[in-house]
Amino acid sequence: MNTIQFPSFWASSLAAGTVLFLTIIAKLLQKPKIFKLPTVGIDATDATILKSRYVQEADVVLREGYEKFKNTIFQVLTPDGPRIFLPRKYAHELKGYNRHQASGMKALSDRHIGNYTTIDHESDIMLGAIKIDLNRNLGTFVADVEDEVAYCFETQFPPCDDWTPIDLHDKLLRVVAQASARIFVGSPMCRDDAWLDCSVKFATDVMTGGEKLKQWHPWLRPIAQYFIPEMARIRGDHQRALDLLMPELKKRSMELNDLNHSPRNDMIEWMQERAKSTGDKSFNNKELANLQMLTATAAIHTTRLAIIHALYDLAARPEYVEPLRNEILEITKGNNGVLQKQHLTQMRMLDSFMKESQRHSPPSVATFQRKAMIPIDLSNGFHIPAGTIVQCNTNMLDEAPAEWGDPHAFDGFRFYKLRSRPGDANKYQFASTSYDSMQFGFGNDACPGRFFASNQIKIILAYILTHYDIKFEDGVVGRPKNFMFEVNVLADPTKMVLFKKIC
Ligand code: HEM
Repeated sequence: MNTIQFPSFWASSLAAGTVLFLTIIAKLLQKPKIFKLPTVGIDATDATILKSRYVQEADVVLREGYEKFKNTIFQVLTPDGPRIFLPRKYAHELKGYNRHQASGMKALSDRHIGNYTTIDHESDIMLGAIKIDLNRNLGTFVADVEDEVAYCFETQFPPCDDWTPIDLHDKLLRVVAQASARIFVGSPMCRDDAWLDCSVKFATDVMTGGEKLKQWHPWLRPIAQYFIPEMARIRGDHQRALDLLMPELKKRSMELNDLNHSPRNDMIEWMQERAKSTGDKSFNNKELANLQMLTATAAIHTTRLAIIHALYDLAARPEYVEPLRNEILEITKGNNGVLQKQHLTQMRMLDSFMKESQRHSPPSVATFQRKAMIPIDLSNGFHIPAGTIVQCNTNMLDEAPAEWGDPHAFDGFRFYKLRSRPGDANKYQFASTSYDSMQFGFGNDACPGRFFASNQIKIILAYILTHYDIKFEDGVVGRPKNFMFEVNVLADPTKMVLFKKIC
């Protein structure tokens, strides 16, 4: 037995020794590239503290930068090296560059070391299916999504006859994943536990695996990736997704022989049709499975988080429940409470509440991140070298236009009131992007899934508002403070919301 273990002992010792040696060399040689820009906090404290402040309170660090260097580009020291933050006005300049010159996807991929986590994969088929096909078909899905949401609450939630604590992070993950899958892979696959598990875990593995791998110097990552369980899972997730998708794909190709078969009208079909019409030879079932995982990664966690933030805002401010509930009941009463496409458009109070919630708790305090793929010179003379990532400091509430009223107050009906002004009915919507609302990004490459997300969030919130009362567990006073992870704004997972059935 010893003879079998002996070589593997030496092999692992040698590997560990090599990794340790390379780590020390890499640390010694590591020299982060500092830009000729003002640096937030550099005079006050040492670099290690600054870096960990960025991880835990990037919102505070960016406010410091904003107050000290107003309207000036500044940099912040982060564990990934210095990061450049632009005043919002530069978004106007950068949006003039196309995605091959200033790329949001490449910036995102770099953040999560996409060449290892597999998200460094840009696809016109995927973008077209979301930007064109999904958005064109939004209206036809309302009933399907509502049906899926109701089914999910009935099967996944406890009865809630009395006040019942609900782990929103867990339960809403399922609701959003299933309701999205109804449109991404259709029925019945949207109820397949294994598929849902695979599509939500892939995103988590990418985030966590990427963070763990980033702790290693770039030279060591080719080896280090094999020591990180999430990285191993990512490799398996792609194969698993394909295996799970194959029976559905086979069924669909058999159906093609049936002259009476009706089109499915879901993301699988749109992607297949796009590949056919563009003659893309690199598209196959494996690629389809990959694109499904990437779409789920972009869609599910972001939408779930927006709903949790809105529910926290609602539970902390119960005075909004009655008007929002009444709006939904009033709009749907002629249709026995069943939602239709135009009902979602008519829910202006809910739309306003969602937008205000997102203004206070955006997905990130620095959206519009772009990787310069070519050298770019800004109007103030600052040169962005190719390969550099920049982002805008997009969450300075004081920058809101004066007509919006007190920018720091939570006014759930702020945008409802603005939209009630003559000529402004179609402005200030949750899914609208503008210079003053960059939560979904800005310009041509702003989030293409935001209209779908808006509908999903409305359908789920409308279901909750018309079926449950909600409140925070005892002891929670006011709106729980958000957690920061770098620029990402997360809802405090330690606070529990209670649900009680009302009908
Ligand atoms: C509340 C939910 C969501 C939030 C907060 C959100 C936020 C964002 C943001 C901030 C960006 C970057 C835009 C920019 O830099 O200009 C983005 C890009 C993107 N989002 Fe979303 N998103 C959400 C839902 C979705 C959904 C449901 C989908 C898919 C159906 C989706 C697909 C994408 C894609 C593909 C991109 C990259 C676009 C490109 O590079 O052209 N997102 N999202």
